[in-house]
Amino acid sequence: MLAHPDAVYIDEGVDFLDLGRYTTATARFGLATMLPRRAYTSEVFQRLEDEKIWTRDWVCIGTAPEIPNALDLLPYTIGHHAIHVQRQPDGSLVGRFNKAQHGGCRAVPAQCRTGKKTKCSYTSCGYSRDREVIGGENLMEMTPQMGQFLGAIPERLLPVRIKTCGPLIFANIDPTLEVEWHAAEPEWDNDFIRVAGHWQEHRANWKIAGAALVDAARSAEAGGGAINHVTARWHFPNLVLIRSRSAILAIVLQPTAMDQALWRLSFFVRSDLPAVSYDAALTRFAPLLKLAVAKATTRQAEVEAALAAEPTETSRAGWEFNQALVERIGRLHASYWNAPLMRA
Ligand code: FES
Repeated sequence: MLAHPDAVYIDEGVDFLDLGRYTTATARFGLATMLPRRAYTSEVFQRLEDEKIWTRDWVCIGTAPEIPNALDLLPYTIGHHAIHVQRQPDGSLVGRFNKAQHGGCRAVPAQCRTGKKTKCSYTSCGYSRDREVIGGENLMEMTPQMGQFLGAIPERLLPVRIKTCGPLIFANIDPTLEVEWHAAEPEWDNDFIRVAGHWQEHRANWKIAGAALVDAARSAEAGGGAINHVTARWHFPNLVLIRSRSAILAIVLQPTAMDQALWRLSFFVRSDLPAVSYDAALTRFAPLLKLAVAKATTRQAEVEAALAAEPTETSRAGWEFNQALVERIGRLHASYWNAPLMRA
């Protein structure tokens, strides 16, 4: 049962909760298709992802080195929910829902109602794109940011469970979760330090982007010798780690529309590497990223053009991801009702 048992996920006659819809996608790799085409284009499917993935799984939202100082705050929108992680004066990290879930705008902007996150000048609400890290110096007194993200008494905000794995921060907003960690934690060697990072946004659904990143890295792997060796792994749902001998590229995928995703990149190098060698260690990733962008945007266009049948799933990483996703769609969750119950 869904946490919201009255919710339906039907778009143009396609019921996304009907597991029969995914029969061809769960066939053997080589024979399997991609997910139903509208899984990459539909706002309704995006809402289903919120119900079945973003409010269930441990989601990577960024890295601890991005908020090094006391009170620094990292905003992140998980599905339709606006949260943040803040560095405390004792160095620990605390996760909470933002005070303003939908803050300054008078109404939900029209773009949001079509599944597109909008650029909002006020806050990182569930409908807007996230702003970048807010320095702790802007959160010491009742600044506008303090009001929108923390309010006067941050301790009263709804807490968010967070965990770290090396520098990676994961958040979980499942209202019913009691188990500690469902998925295998990514392996992390603490000898790596974060030296750079940026965001880039591309016109491809986040699921297509994940497969393209792994495929691009694997084709580079096939073409490189021992020195240029790279490996890639997609950690469900939204983290891709690409490793070379001396560097790691972590990509956090965040949907900003049905056909668009933000790629939040963090570059790490071995801590014993001299600073002059950083660029050389990271150059391996540039052509690979370019290839991934080309693959992802081309695939998105192909999916949108394929009106009759779903295209074959040519990416093994994409196929593996689809199996995990379909399994999530079929999961039953305890339902809850947040309206006060009354005795008749
Ligand atoms: S406060 Fe939500 S879009 Fe502006």
